[in-house]
Amino acid sequence: MVNEDKNEMVVTPWEVRGKVDYERLIREFGTQPLTDELLQKIAKYTGKLHLQLQRKLFFSHRDLDTVLDLYEKGTKFVLYTGRGPSGGVHIGHLVPWIFTKHLQDKFDTRLYFQMTDDEKFIIEDELKLEQTRNFAYENALDLIALGFKPENTFIIYDVQDIDILYDLALEVAKRITYSTAKATFGFQDSTNIGWVFWPAIQAVPCFIHAKLTGENVPALIPAAIDQDPYWRVTRDIAQKLGYYKPAQIHCRFLPGLGIGGKMSASQPETSIFTTDPPELVKRKIWNAFTGGKGTAAEQKKTGADPNICTIFQYFVYLFEEDTEKLTGRERKCKAGEVLCGECKAVLAERVNKFLAEHQKKREKAKNIVQEFHIKR
Ligand code: TYM
Repeated sequence: MVNEDKNEMVVTPWEVRGKVDYERLIREFGTQPLTDELLQKIAKYTGKLHLQLQRKLFFSHRDLDTVLDLYEKGTKFVLYTGRGPSGGVHIGHLVPWIFTKHLQDKFDTRLYFQMTDDEKFIIEDELKLEQTRNFAYENALDLIALGFKPENTFIIYDVQDIDILYDLALEVAKRITYSTAKATFGFQDSTNIGWVFWPAIQAVPCFIHAKLTGENVPALIPAAIDQDPYWRVTRDIAQKLGYYKPAQIHCRFLPGLGIGGKMSASQPETSIFTTDPPELVKRKIWNAFTGGKGTAAEQKKTGADPNICTIFQYFVYLFEEDTEKLTGRERKCKAGEVLCGECKAVLAERVNKFLAEHQKKREKAKNIVQEFHIKR
């Protein structure tokens, strides 16, 4: 599962590195691009398109058109997404969750959210079960802080809630061969057997609504594209179990503050965690990789490159809502009219403002976290 060539693009549910080529991922994963026509279809229900759609941060899908067609004819859908609690939540995780909340609000639909404390225990050698369970609780606070509706949000903590997952996981596992799993996930002889079974558990929430309520509706999964391999195997067996194939809408990765790959909790120095204090945020942003030149004089003369700049990407993804101002920043950067230090200072201020608010909401979430726990 580990690819040795450091420059090569690697995108798996457990590792993302190199320069991510999203067009290539669409081809290799066999997903569909999110076309303007489909965006218009979404806008029919949501009104103005969400910024993440306007900016093509969500760029690919599977069966979103089918889900919207069904919706038009009166069949609702449920949302499903999740988190592998291996540590704190970083602002990259918030990207698909913010969009999921938008969908929950606009379509007035349920969200099933899976906390995979089992997955992280199984795949991370050094993590103890007690730790992943604790991170699951901590991560739920971040989710709740984003404003999800308690009456429409159902968090599943895998270890605690295995009783409602296990029968369906068995149905799934029985229908996926080792050869398919190996080809999809790259399992090796040294892979522990918990990991080999694990994809069956991540498949289950696609069908949990039907199981718990008897209402057979499709699930739509907003997530970054690294999770797609799970849905490939799940889609293959869904109809055999009498359910709809789960649909997906895939987003790009918020990059880390270093070069290439995605923001990843396993690289804390290039990630901004939701609980980071202001000084630490400033320091991390100050050390970020940018598209700047060696000296201020050179940059003023020849301009910089926002396309490779992590700082600019953070404005695009989360920290500049005004698209005119965003294009202005891009133009000035290319023209050498703004230096990296200025962009970094503005970004640090915005991130810290956002985090101060988020941290308050996260504290308040402690009082209501139980309301979000899935009921039997
Ligand atoms: P995890 O914890 O790796 O990631 C949680 C969610 O965040 C997305 N993500 C990112 N999005 C944008 N930029 C980034 N830098 C970035 N890093 C991570 C992931 O795609 C994911 O949507 N096995 C899963 C947990 C899970 C799950 C699911 C995720 C269970 N069921 C259903 C999505 C949908 C995991 O470890 O996610």
